Amino acid sequence: MRPTVRVSGRDRLLDAVMALSAAALGIATVFSSPPVMPSSKVMLIVNVVLAGALLLRRRAPLALLWIAAVATVVIFTVDQAAPGVLIAHGPGLDAGSTIPPITPFAAYTALAQGGRRRAAPPVALLILFAAAPWESISLHRLIPSLSQAAVFVAGPALLGMYVYARQRLLRSLIERADRAERERHLLAERARAEERARLAADMHDIVSHRVTLMVLQAGALRVTADNERIRAAAESLRTTGCQALEELHDMIGLLRATATPGEGGCRRDGETEDVNEDASDGGDGSGDDEGGRASQDRERPIPVPDVRPLIAESESVGVPIELVEEGDAGLASQVVARTAYRVVQEALTNARKHAPGAKVRVLLRHRRQWVDVSVRNTEPTCPGDAELVATGGGMGLIGLRRRVELVGGTLRNGPTSDGGYEVEASLPTWGSLGEWSEAQGAAGET
Ligand SMILES: Nc1ncnc2c1ncn2[C@@H]1O[C@H](COP(=O)(O)OP(=O)(O)O)[C@@H](O)[C@H]1O
Ligand SMILES: [Mg+2]
Repeated sequence: MRPTVRVSGRDRLLDAVMALSAAALGIATVFSSPPVMPSSKVMLIVNVVLAGALLLRRRAPLALLWIAAVATVVIFTVDQAAPGVLIAHGPGLDAGSTIPPITPFAAYTALAQGGRRRAAPPVALLILFAAAPWESISLHRLIPSLSQAAVFVAGPALLGMYVYARQRLLRSLIERADRAERERHLLAERARAEERARLAADMHDIVSHRVTLMVLQAGALRVTADNERIRAAAESLRTTGCQALEELHDMIGLLRATATPGEGGCRRDGETEDVNEDASDGGDGSGDDEGGRASQDRERPIPVPDVRPLIAESESVGVPIELVEEGDAGLASQVVARTAYRVVQEALTNARKHAPGAKVRVLLRHRRQWVDVSVRNTEPTCPGDAELVATGGGMGLIGLRRRVELVGGTLRNGPTSDGGYEVEASLPTWGSLGEWSEAQGAAGET
């Protein structure tokens, strides 16, 4: 089915001008053919009627071309059978006079609307009758005949083909620009979603780390304080902290539900991946500017975080921690160093929360191609804070795995044979997936 073509007022005007031009050309052809005979009136009518058919040129361009071709054959045949009835004969008349004046308009229209293959037979027929090689083989007759074929049929047809090709090119350029625009929107949307997922992960890591510490400190105060009022206040603090963790969990769930995390590639060193919290923990450990991460100056180089303040914080609430560091920490890229920091942070938060009383061993091994991180705790020795354990909902390790995988690393976690728990990550020293696989192939390290 042909698509419905919307015809504007300008198009209609153009159609009318074409029809009038064809009619005028037809009338002029008849009157400019001396001598004007009574029979020329028939041709006058034929030309005007055919010119009227031009008004259909947009709806049925191929049919119009066939009308021109058939009219040519009919005029030629009638002229052969009864010379002079339709076309004036006399000295100085060209062979192409059997071609009706709508022909150039019909040829142009048919080709300008595509359908080259279907337009070829009528165009060939019209060229043949315009050139009329059977009329004479003398050079002085042939040149005007060929010129007529070129001007009346071949030229307009070529012009139509050019216009059609140009329109197609324009359409494809517009489509391509539209597609590029759509892709740009999608990419921006995806970047926003990734940023949202990253924020959710950061929020979880940073806030739950701090609030868990607060809850544990409040819990300890509740037990050790000898004043009843202080005990009640500590208990209230602890309960509020647990509620805050629960609400945080719900909020992160919401953020993640509207984001499509993990679809993008890796962040590299040049990109600001992390948070003010890193800087503060790496420095004095005060961590008081976490809320300002959104306004972080993205051009500023971010200090590589240090796990020592993290460890000190856990020790301050009574978790005994042994830190083992091997190799040169400066080898790892910033993004990998920050990911290693996150692994230690989440594993320590978990050890405090799920394994009270346990001893923890943190191992950081920096090799040439790989950074190994392991946080292992022994069996818990005392019952945990049930309310605290109930908060969170298992998002920490899921988010952590995503972070580790984004830099091309792997994360393993689970209970150990001695009743404890271990979180282990292997991170490629330079982070990116491509470099990671190259490193794998080149070094054969595991
Ligand atoms: N050190 C640990 N000791 C015992 N169980 C742990 C430890 N770390 C994690 N787990 C278990 O793994 C689960 C998932 O941990 P995580 O994703 O961090 O969620 P959350 O800490 O919010 O519960 C925890 O609910 C807990 O059952
Ligand atoms: Mg956790």
